[in-house]
Amino acid sequence: MYDPFSGRGTAPLEACRLGRIGIGSDANPLAYVLTGAKVDPPTLNRVQTRLAYLRKHQPRTRAAAAPDDLVMLYTQKVLRQLCWLRAELDTEDRTDRFIMAVVLGIMHANFKPCPPARWWASWGRV
Ligand SMILES: C[S@@+](CC[C@H](N)C(=O)[O-])C[C@H]1O[C@@H](n2cnc3c(N)ncnc32)[C@H](O)[C@@H]1O
Repeated sequence: MYDPFSGRGTAPLEACRLGRIGIGSDANPLAYVLTGAKVDPPTLNRVQTRLAYLRKHQPRTRAAAAPDDLVMLYTQKVLRQLCWLRAELDTEDRTDRFIMAVVLGIMHANFKPCPPARWWASWGRV
């Protein structure tokens, strides 16, 4: 089942759930992250291992470089974590893509990209 405007990936997910091959494409790069997280999820163990690594290695002092419209939305600590995660996570990696999708949800990334989601996507890694 192919949805050429797959958005959040509901149709490909449902196809997979029914034992079919679900494929999606979309002009919005966030669709790739959200759909991939649903149709090709990592194991719980891999997510836990990766989160433990990220928690351990997160920078604690580096100043965040982010646009002004984001600086007013988050504390310095959260902004620092978001900047670092944005650079660290690899969308080609199943586990990272899943974590990225969760982070984007936490950032309230609706599908008409809000400033946080636009900023994330502009990195060129989504
Ligand atoms: C209403 S949403 C899709 C909903 C999805 N099919 C579902 O069932 O949940 C429409 C999607 O079309 C995408 N889109 C719009 N124009 C497009 C184009 N020219 N090529 C690819 N995707 C496009 C948008 O980015 C958006 O994600």
